[in-house]
Amino acid sequence: MATVTFSSPILAKDVTVYAVAGDMGTLLALARRNAIPLPCQCQDGECGSCLIKVTDLGDTAPKAQALTEREKTTLSVNGKLSRDLLDRAEGANMAPPYRLACQFVVPDSDILVEFSGEPGVE
Ligand code: FES
Repeated sequence: MATVTFSSPILAKDVTVYAVAGDMGTLLALARRNAIPLPCQCQDGECGSCLIKVTDLGDTAPKAQALTEREKTTLSVNGKLSRDLLDRAEGANMAPPYRLACQFVVPDSDILVEFSGEPGVE
């Protein structure tokens, strides 16, 4: 069972929740189930309001999870996904630091999720 720790200036303290193995829902869905006030507007990968920074807390190198085409476009337009980071994610399976919570599927590893509480701001 993986843990997801949410950290934000708008939370009184960090909140750690358990992600059930086999639950392939998005991080946004997990946040909502646990009353984490993660900003979101479109829920479709287009607005960028659910921007998060993801840090893998495991002992092994984090594997990149495929970015959706919308996520690639939105993160690139917002300056959070450079060509180099995209190449490393797709070519070397290295996880990029920024993701969209509505597109990112909860991984089977412990992660730290940071967000500002302001839509689209990390
Ligand atoms: Fe709009 Fe995630 S809520 S990109």
